[in-house]
Amino acid sequence: MEVKVISGDITAVKVDAVVVNLFEGMETPGGATGAVDQALDGIISRLIAGGEIKGRLNEVTLLHTMGKIEPERVAVVGLGKQDKFTYDSIRQVMSAACRVLRKAGAKSVATIVHGAGMGGLDVEKAVQSIVEGTIIGLYTYRRHITREPEHGEIAELIIVERDESRIPLLEQSVTKGWVLAEATNFARDMVNEPANYMTPTDVAAAAQRVASDWGLEFNVLESKEMEELEMGALLGVARGSRQSPKFIVMRYKGGDPELGALGLVGKGITFDSGGISIKPSENMGEMKGDMAGGAAVIAAMRAIAELKPFINVTGLIPATENLPDGNALKPGDVLKAMNGKTIEVVNTDAEGRLILADALCYARKLELTPVIDVATLTGSCIVALGYICSGIMGNDREMVENVIRAGEESGEKIWQLPMYEEYKELNKSEVADVKNSGGRYAGAVSAAQFLAEFVEGTPWVHLDIAGPSFLRKEQGYLTKGATGVAVRTLTNLALALAGERPK
Ligand code: BES
Ligand code: MN
Ligand code: ZN
Repeated sequence: MEVKVISGDITAVKVDAVVVNLFEGMETPGGATGAVDQALDGIISRLIAGGEIKGRLNEVTLLHTMGKIEPERVAVVGLGKQDKFTYDSIRQVMSAACRVLRKAGAKSVATIVHGAGMGGLDVEKAVQSIVEGTIIGLYTYRRHITREPEHGEIAELIIVERDESRIPLLEQSVTKGWVLAEATNFARDMVNEPANYMTPTDVAAAAQRVASDWGLEFNVLESKEMEELEMGALLGVARGSRQSPKFIVMRYKGGDPELGALGLVGKGITFDSGGISIKPSENMGEMKGDMAGGAAVIAAMRAIAELKPFINVTGLIPATENLPDGNALKPGDVLKAMNGKTIEVVNTDAEGRLILADALCYARKLELTPVIDVATLTGSCIVALGYICSGIMGNDREMVENVIRAGEESGEKIWQLPMYEEYKELNKSEVADVKNSGGRYAGAVSAAQFLAEFVEGTPWVHLDIAGPSFLRKEQGYLTKGATGVAVRTLTNLALALAGERPK
């Protein structure tokens, strides 16, 4: 989508439709909405008085302008209660309004900057949120549908700002929002892609594309190198698959070459059948999304390469399938990870922590710090938190807080679960150093404690995105299916850690 910021009069912009707004409980529309109301002979005021427009959050009222103003249609969007208005409300209302306008056939849309006047929000961030909400909200996945779509797509968004002097600054906000949103949708495409089209080889190819398009260093470790590195846990999981595993390494060098790099590690299970500890067949298809952490890291690397923060960042994605086979890992098997620790595999469906164990060891070998891993790791995290938020744990309080803050800025909710020492008990094995499942209770925490065995002293944060990465029904501006969760959080984290580029 093409996005522009202009200064001028919203009633005179040459577009198919404009979006104006109203807070809940307001009787007379002000500002640009007021101007549109006047030009339309008071129709908006009349609908408010009659109770048809209430201003509730995400309420969209579509009006036809019958030649009274330049745009053919006006969408009046409700902003909800003024004291509850946030940047995420902006993302939501843009998504709601544009979905209605797309159905009505609009190809170009103009909007005013919601919340910058009475809402009291920062204009730059409001503009960024408009772009994010529109692009993320209009996402569709129909790559494998051959019939014609029911509607066209909105190809152009014009943001109308009154103050001309602010345009150059707002253009930067547009770029930031655009990069974050397009990267989010890129991750969604990878995650929605069926597992027969998104094998570990395909993930590596997608990452290589990103690297060559955006100038990242790129390298893939093949099985042979994994063997040399003694990545026994990752190779153990890969044994059940006919697809060769790939360990993807992407490097962005934007910071002081003398300094180390932030490490982003993403779980890349391209299909999780559970292996010999096979999952029930109901909803098993959703497990094509078990590489959502890996996709988030690849997409965040792309966004980071575009936004160029002054920091070094390395992305690591261990990718394989988890399938049952004559050669597959069996419950009871013992594996040895790259750091020499032995693991009793009590459940082959707890494969994510196995491949991450070696990836975290490799992150240590590269001396990455801090390390953030992102994974659709446990059903237990969904039991605890549902689909609304990700679980977060780690060994570094400050970094956990940094990630939560980056999430808030992105409109991605993250809730911390406890990492008390006592939970380590759950992973004790009689036959090896640790076992790969601590049982049903506190499953998200014992999984994190398992990962902690492989990061040792490195400052580390673990994000369990099992819930919010893949939705069974639409949720706000996110459609059913892949959400691209963590792309914006990881990118904003890199930007925040980088701070200002030294002159
Ligand atoms: N990929 C799953 C976790 C998952 C479940 C993600 C549902 C998204 C939706 C993971 O590999 C898994 O199977 N975890 C098991 C671990 C258990 C066997 C210790 C789980 O959480 O049930
Ligand atoms: Mn599993
Ligand atoms: Zn899994």
